[in-house]
Amino acid sequence: MHDRKIRAFMSTLMLATALAAGAVHAAEPAPPTVALSDRPWMDASLAPEARAELLLRQMSVAEKKTLVFGYFGSPFKERNYTPPAGIRMGSAGFVPGIDRLGIPPQWLTDAGLGVATQRDSTEPMRERTSLPAGIATAATWNPALARQGGVMIGREARLSGFNVMLAGSLNLVREPRNGRNFEYGGEDPLLAGVIVGAQIAGIQSNNIISTIKHFALNAQETGRFVLSANIDEAASRMSDLLAFEIAMDRSDPGSVMCAYNRYEGHYACESDFLLNQVLKRDWGYKGYVMSDWGAVHSTAKAANAGLDQESGYVFDKEPYFGPELLGAALADGSVPMERLDDMNRRILHALFANGVFDHPVNVEDHRIDYAAHAAITRADAEEGIVLLRNKDGLLPLDAGARRIAIIGGHADKGVMAGGGSSTVFGPGGNPVPGLGPQHFPGPVVFHANPPLDAIRARNGSAAVRFDPGSDPAAAAALAADSDIAIIFANQWTGEAMDFPLTLPDGQDAVIEAVAKANPRTIVVLQTGGPVFMPWLDRVGAVMEAWYPGTAGGEAIARVLFGEVDASGRLPVTFPKSLDQLPRPKLDGEDLPQDTPFDVDYHEGAAIGYKWFDKKGLTPLFPFGHGLSYTSFAYKDLTAVQGDDGTLTLSGTVTNTGQRAGKAVPQLYVGPRDGGWEAPKRLAGWQKLDLAPGASAQFSVPVDPRLLAMYDTAGRQWVVTPGRYRVWLGASATDLPLTADVVLKGASLPASKAQ
Ligand code: BGC
Repeated sequence: MHDRKIRAFMSTLMLATALAAGAVHAAEPAPPTVALSDRPWMDASLAPEARAELLLRQMSVAEKKTLVFGYFGSPFKERNYTPPAGIRMGSAGFVPGIDRLGIPPQWLTDAGLGVATQRDSTEPMRERTSLPAGIATAATWNPALARQGGVMIGREARLSGFNVMLAGSLNLVREPRNGRNFEYGGEDPLLAGVIVGAQIAGIQSNNIISTIKHFALNAQETGRFVLSANIDEAASRMSDLLAFEIAMDRSDPGSVMCAYNRYEGHYACESDFLLNQVLKRDWGYKGYVMSDWGAVHSTAKAANAGLDQESGYVFDKEPYFGPELLGAALADGSVPMERLDDMNRRILHALFANGVFDHPVNVEDHRIDYAAHAAITRADAEEGIVLLRNKDGLLPLDAGARRIAIIGGHADKGVMAGGGSSTVFGPGGNPVPGLGPQHFPGPVVFHANPPLDAIRARNGSAAVRFDPGSDPAAAAALAADSDIAIIFANQWTGEAMDFPLTLPDGQDAVIEAVAKANPRTIVVLQTGGPVFMPWLDRVGAVMEAWYPGTAGGEAIARVLFGEVDASGRLPVTFPKSLDQLPRPKLDGEDLPQDTPFDVDYHEGAAIGYKWFDKKGLTPLFPFGHGLSYTSFAYKDLTAVQGDDGTLTLSGTVTNTGQRAGKAVPQLYVGPRDGGWEAPKRLAGWQKLDLAPGASAQFSVPVDPRLLAMYDTAGRQWVVTPGRYRVWLGASATDLPLTADVVLKGASLPASKAQ
């Protein structure tokens, strides 16, 4: 059970029961039902603002209070909580609708990889398609695939009866040990913003709302309810906040979920700076802010700081936005009535703007086309697989029968999924039950798409033998008696916990033993992020498959056998050791639970490769790295600033090998005289499918914020005039081409309204 759940305040139980039973507010008489013909807000030709305004005028105070208070959508035994009528069983949340005005209920489902089910649900788990981990989708560097994945999971959400999807997971990977990195889009604000933005746009194309979360700086799970993330404002605007800003520019999510942690001392859901100033004032955001489940700590402070909807009651200690507490705050003026109107206006705006009124959801899960969706998740997974090492072209495997040893990782049963609220239960359920923590964020879930079967299907099954990898000697013996050994090494990570960067359960020793027995050893990693590889020099090939989703076994086999190119590129830096990190020791790890502490993000905006660059450190594998089965050459790098000030970077990439493949030419930029948080930033990239010998030209306009420093006092982005260097190549450390360009100075207001 969630740690946050355990910290229940039993005193709220009676109130919860009364709320759940539908006791709304006594003071006002029930207003009359408005006939369909009298609902001008249902005129879809009107702008969402106008529709929201028309409807708001009809709402009683009790109704306005209804829309700002959400319930948990599943039973919660420890708190003796029974969800109200109307929920979708096993879901994350529910906000009652208002029948008389035709306002639909909000049915909320996790999360960014597909439709998840709460584990304590009293009904069987929904079995749905899971995308690969968010970090795998980021590793595709392919926004079109990210969008397509969003369209697919959004459709499953809609057909499962949900109109709000708690997706858009976008906390930058500042801390490689963070147990939720697998949900996110990597360490770079441009890459993460573009990929997650594309996914959100895809989800919302189903006429449902997607969130973006967790706003902001929820960069580690250790102490997530109590820690204060402290960071210079300009640095946060140029990193974590910029990632959100870029994603939101591209997708306009209906809702933003504020995070558990504190930010500069204030809870994120009480942060006037984050919610009112950055999000609503500067970014002109018109949607609503919902809290994370258990992230609210007050009524007036939160409401006045910009929180619009409390989520998942009974997770908070009190029903802060419930009718009684909110009613009292309205009565004593600590929450003005205009604020309640604004909260409702924002929620209604998001519902109208995303078509939730005009295209009601129903449970129609018989209409889900699982075969078509499997093809979509497989495409995402296979493009996200990163070939880290491939000595002497060991991969791809040729067609034709060989004696192959498959070792470890439950590869005979399925592929691993990450833990916590985002876990999707795939078709066929969990084929490896009983592993890991028995309560949230466990148990460990696998998807029933075994790599062993997919490999046998391609190699003929007789010569493919499996060893569970529990005994190094037995695994080595099988490897010695095989032409090739493929060892699956897994690290389960999950929400509410952080993890060391070491493979668990003695897997390093098994890999060492297998590699010693047969140097033609291929390691397939299923991890949520970076891990150390002490055996790296002794194995032939390493492939990072992340958590590859419900078609993951097929995806892995297709890349192993070269049916598709290996075209993933790392969205995170893999460090060699902890002392390379800004915080070798994880803050808060030795403190008793609930002891508040500060995390000083002294590295500012220099996250990941920027930190390594600035400090001159050599990582295990750099950001952007990933081998292909062919080879690419780059030329013609040019950098031109147009009359409107836009810097455009162009180049040409050629497939110089014998096989078709996907190139990911990467463009970086930095000032010749320094002055940024790091020597260079990712400025753009392309993903290009090239036949052998083919060339393609590409041209990328650079977002001006990536050329600027944020000026806090002036509330603006400032591009310093002068000479800049641009780089083109295959990763943050493999950049064969450079060019210089002189940029004109410019400034851009932080506020989009100016
Ligand atoms: C997570 C959110 C999730 C929510 C609802 C929280 O634990 O942080 O990402 O959407 O629960 O399940």
